[in-house]
Amino acid sequence: MGFVKRLRQNYAQHFAATRSMVNGKIVDAVTNILNAKLFARLDFERHYLGGFLETELTDARRTFWYMERVRWFQFLAAGTLKIGTVYYALTLWEANLIGVGDFTMSVGLSLLIINDARNLTRRFLEFFEYIGNISNGIDTIVRPHEIIDVPDAPALHISQGRIEFKNVTFGYTADHQVFNNLNIVIEPGQRVGLVGFSGSGKSTFVGLILRNFAPQSGEILIDGYDIAKVSLDSLHTQVSLIPQDPSLFHRSLMDNIRYGKLEASDSDVHKAAGMANAAEFIEGIAEGYAAQVGERGVKLSGGQRQRIAIARVMLKDAPLLILDEATSSLDSITEKTIQDNLDQAMGRKTVIAIAHRLSTIVHLDRILVFDGGRIVEDGSHDQLLQQQGFYYRLWTMQVGGFLPEQALPSNSKTE
Ligand SMILES: Nc1ncnc2c1ncn2[C@@H]1O[C@H](COP(=O)(O)OP(=O)(O)OP(=O)(O)O)[C@@H](O)[C@H]1O
Ligand SMILES: [Mg+2]
Repeated sequence: MGFVKRLRQNYAQHFAATRSMVNGKIVDAVTNILNAKLFARLDFERHYLGGFLETELTDARRTFWYMERVRWFQFLAAGTLKIGTVYYALTLWEANLIGVGDFTMSVGLSLLIINDARNLTRRFLEFFEYIGNISNGIDTIVRPHEIIDVPDAPALHISQGRIEFKNVTFGYTADHQVFNNLNIVIEPGQRVGLVGFSGSGKSTFVGLILRNFAPQSGEILIDGYDIAKVSLDSLHTQVSLIPQDPSLFHRSLMDNIRYGKLEASDSDVHKAAGMANAAEFIEGIAEGYAAQVGERGVKLSGGQRQRIAIARVMLKDAPLLILDEATSSLDSITEKTIQDNLDQAMGRKTVIAIAHRLSTIVHLDRILVFDGGRIVEDGSHDQLLQQQGFYYRLWTMQVGGFLPEQALPSNSKTE
């Protein structure tokens, strides 16, 4: 029985794993359906998925076939037992060793017991199948969280907004480090722009402040608190992020903006929408603030989505604000208006703004230039231009306000 159980459980577990893998492939194909269409690859996808479905089918056949064989074995075993019992009772009765009463009772009882035993083994079989399914699921669910709060983590209170990186070493994988012993202090109320080529570590830098990942060594302090030791919720209520490509809930516009501050009144929401330059287009929609935005916000344009995300963050009004190219999807006139409002909303907050267009950060207090995970230059726009270093080259290289993807060969500099 132990052997049957083990085999059954393994088959079921394997089948469950294949099934979830195939489901993942299908979800991936469906989410990328636009790509498949644009590249005219629907047939390719059909074949690609067909291969995986075939694997699932093979596994299913093997599992069910095994179960069928065990069932047949049980059926035959029970049948033999029943016939054997009746036959044995008959011989005993023939030899006058038992009477009719004994015969009926013992045969009746034996048949009852055999039937129930067979039912029981059948239930066991199903039971092991469920165990197989569940252990596959549990493997996925109980994988330890990478980032968890220490027990009784105190809440973070940002009163000033001073950020310090102390000997921070971080890499996504063990063999590739993004930051090696990084030290930097951002003073309270400072507005800091981050620039650098693609892959230089800007998003990783803000990801570390948001504790999306934990550094391998070193500390990140906000107002003297080590963020690894405070509760994640308290950190996230006091740090706002406007991501590059914000996504929205499939709920009303009102609910989406109010997400920044659940207890905000309708007029607060309208005010925030006004500041983010979103009020006008919202009022242009027939349902106004009650309009549903579609899953992930698909019913809005990129710039509209971004303005809703900005309104949400303005409502949240956290003391630390992080912008990842927050105005990248906007036309230049809307951008100018929002930039002014953002500047106003920044107030005395500490602000970190990632920019691919230097024009959006020239007016900030300080610019950090990232190169390959190091901060190679640090200063205001004017200071950095005077240094005639890396930033100066970026400034002179930018095309129509945009940074090139990587360094141009030095002789093609457009100075
Ligand atoms: N999730 C991840 N897993 C593994 N490596 C990653 C991951 N995210 C980023 N990296 C690597 O870390 C390095 C820094 O990436 P990061 O996203 O911080 O760059 P960035 O400066 O924000 O670039 P961009 O301007 O293109 O947004 C890159 O070498 C990148 O390949
Ligand atoms: Mg980035």
